[in-house]
Amino acid sequence: MLTVLAYIVVIIFLVGFLSRLVIYARSPAPLKIATTPAPTTRLGVVWRLVTEVIFFNSLFKGDKLAWAGGLAFHGALAVVLIRHIRYFVDPVPAFFGPLQIIGIVAGVVMAGALGFLLLRRLLIDRVKYISSPADYLFLILLLAIAGTGLLMDFALRPNIVAIKANLMAMWSSVTGLPPLNSAGDVMFLLHLLLVAVLFVIFPFSKLMHAGGLFFSPTRNQVDNPREQKHVNPWAEP
Ligand code: HEM
Repeated sequence: MLTVLAYIVVIIFLVGFLSRLVIYARSPAPLKIATTPAPTTRLGVVWRLVTEVIFFNSLFKGDKLAWAGGLAFHGALAVVLIRHIRYFVDPVPAFFGPLQIIGIVAGVVMAGALGFLLLRRLLIDRVKYISSPADYLFLILLLAIAGTGLLMDFALRPNIVAIKANLMAMWSSVTGLPPLNSAGDVMFLLHLLLVAVLFVIFPFSKLMHAGGLFFSPTRNQVDNPREQKHVNPWAEP
């Protein structure tokens, strides 16, 4: 049951994500619209995108509060997800040992950053005005995922050994799995269900900025209109 759900969710996510990327890649960029000052070489564009992904440069210029909350959330998310690898691999590599406590701290930072981003939408009139229900929904969904995760860390301990056996069984043919029935295990199943919801809506939502960023003409174009003629793909002879 859990395995069937996991496979359906992963297929929806992968097919949805990749087909959106194909749509982005095929969309013509008729004009040179790199936001200046922009790099004048391909290598410069690669550097621009790398620093954009790591430091959120444009967001910093546009909105300092969104930048601070966004950077804290995504940084913590990266650490939390790296720590999660231990649930899916066996044996667990040695460097995961010291990462455990850092991962839990990152979980707290992640929940804090999401709370901050939610308050920003609720308390700043100008941001509230342009916020749609979906904007709140994603923050609340992510908060619920982080909240159920942290509850497992601090209050309702689940049976991690049984959880791992069940997760590993998803890509093997092991049977006779340990049951997940304590209060902590139920919290885990809730965590997993919320993650499944997140994965299913991901390709159809603004979360696609994760892939879309690389296809944005204002960021990925080389600023060389004088050296090289930009041909509008719609203007075929
Ligand atoms: C299939 C995917 C996932 C599984 C199986 C899973 C499983 C778990 C488990 C078992 C814990 C408890 C940690 C412990 O007690 O050792 C946990 C914690 C947590 N999870 Fe997940 N999780 C998944 C996906 C996610 C995602 C996508 C996010 C974020 C968007 C997330 C955020 C967290 C956070 C913030 C914590 C608390 C901090 C930590 O222990 O790392 N999880 N998760």
